[in-house]
Amino acid sequence: MDTEVDLLHGNAKKPPPPRRRRCCSTTAVTLLVFLFTNAVSILVSSGAAPPSLLRRYKPATVRLWDDSASLAADLNATQAALAAGRAELAGLHARVNTANELLRTLLDAMSASAPHQAPPDGAWSWKREPSGELKLAIGPHALGAAGSAPAFAALGHACVRAQDDLERYMAYAPGGECPADEPLARALLLAGCEPLPRRRCRARPPPKGYAHPAPLPGSLWATPLDTSACKNHSCLLRAGAVDGCDACLDLRPGGRERARWGRDDGALSYSLDAVLAARPNGTVRIGLDLGGGGSVSGTLAARMLPRGVTVVTAVADAGAPLDGFVAARGLVPVHVSAAQRLPFFDGTMDLVHAGHARGGWMAPGGGVALEFALFDVYRVLRPGGLLWLDHFACAGEQVNATVAPLLDRVGFRKLRWNTGRGKGKDRWYISALLERPMA
Ligand SMILES: *[C@@H]1O[C@H](CO)[C@@H](O)[C@H](O)[C@H]1NC(C)=O
Ligand SMILES: *[C@@H]1O[C@H](CO)[C@@H](O)[C@H](O)[C@H]1NC(C)=O
Ligand SMILES: *[C@@H]1O[C@H](CO)[C@@H](O)[C@H](O)[C@H]1NC(C)=O
Ligand SMILES: *[C@@H]1O[C@H](CO)[C@@H](O)[C@H](O)[C@H]1NC(C)=O
Repeated sequence: MDTEVDLLHGNAKKPPPPRRRRCCSTTAVTLLVFLFTNAVSILVSSGAAPPSLLRRYKPATVRLWDDSASLAADLNATQAALAAGRAELAGLHARVNTANELLRTLLDAMSASAPHQAPPDGAWSWKREPSGELKLAIGPHALGAAGSAPAFAALGHACVRAQDDLERYMAYAPGGECPADEPLARALLLAGCEPLPRRRCRARPPPKGYAHPAPLPGSLWATPLDTSACKNHSCLLRAGAVDGCDACLDLRPGGRERARWGRDDGALSYSLDAVLAARPNGTVRIGLDLGGGGSVSGTLAARMLPRGVTVVTAVADAGAPLDGFVAARGLVPVHVSAAQRLPFFDGTMDLVHAGHARGGWMAPGGGVALEFALFDVYRVLRPGGLLWLDHFACAGEQVNATVAPLLDRVGFRKLRWNTGRGKGKDRWYISALLERPMA
């Protein structure tokens, strides 16, 4: 190193003799190779190199040159480039992790379903040629103007896997009263047979003693008497419709529902007013509650209505007439299942609220179903629209490895982000306020 210093000093002071120039250029080449090797090793170590590795390029070593300023500038530039490279690598790392996680979920799902799979050649075809009402329902229908091509009614492709049940569902007397077969219809929908074919039968009349819903605004907080399937909301609790959350259907004064989303704890529990405050007053006007967890009974819509926000409530009705419960309150239930594209136009919603749900619309964790769902939410939100993730449940490692990168990938921008440990083993919650950006 001493020789090197000497040579370099001499080099700067007087016009160097040719021999020395060769020495110097050799030194420079060595130095460059040294730099390059280190740069490569830092890059290869995939962004995990501690910042200390970069310190060796700081002007401390470089001060030996008289011409150190330009060299320092070069080194600064190299440092900057390295830092940028490392940031990019970290980004790539995150993306690779997301992709890995998604791939794993996909493979898990495939191997789990493999034993039940139909042979590939018959995978998407009927076991038997459809006949009768089923054939009529899925055949061509002249829908448009005279002379236009006939349309084919929509039918979920998963229906071919449940042909026996579907044929049972389509066995009815045309023009008569529809059979009482809601459980069958639900089983088909949950199996992904969505939409179901239409039927030419009349919806069943209400049972004796049908009670008209209470008038607004009292209906918002009147416990519905759903006489079609239950005597009162206790049947919903028995059906396990709300994940063991009795309080989720308790609309009485002093009950949990009355005060829901009233207080903001600065952590996972956001208040309605804090969420609405993210936008100028009055600009959040229409929304969709995808529900989940304790948010099943339309209460978000009931609490938003006095704030001037019209919210429709997605109900999956997994074994209990929640739709009737929501409708009796004077709120709009919409049928949305996890297998379905959201039944809304692109770029229309000011707000989408989604809580955690077991086997519900917002699949917990970070699977492919979640990715499809998030892209669809992004689609229906208007630019500047808000997605309120409310106690979204996942495993601890998924918070940073899967869910957060997935939200970034879909394109959401974080306005607020909170994570916290849940009660179960390695159960974490994410609450977040995200926006669909303007560009
Ligand atoms: C190199 O960057 C440091 C800050 O990172 C700065 O103080 C210094 O002036 C820079 N040197 C040159 C030669 O640009
Ligand atoms: C609901 O009906 C059951 C009987 O079916 C009754 O025992 C229960 O007290 C009722 N609950 C309410 C809140 O009315
Ligand atoms: C929003 O506007 C309404 C009507 O103009 C007003 O009553 C209300 O107090 C406002 N809310 C806030 C938080 O400013
Ligand atoms: C996720 O990452 C943040 C910041 O890197 C960290 O503070 C947090 O503890 C991580 N969360 C989990 C659940 O690992």
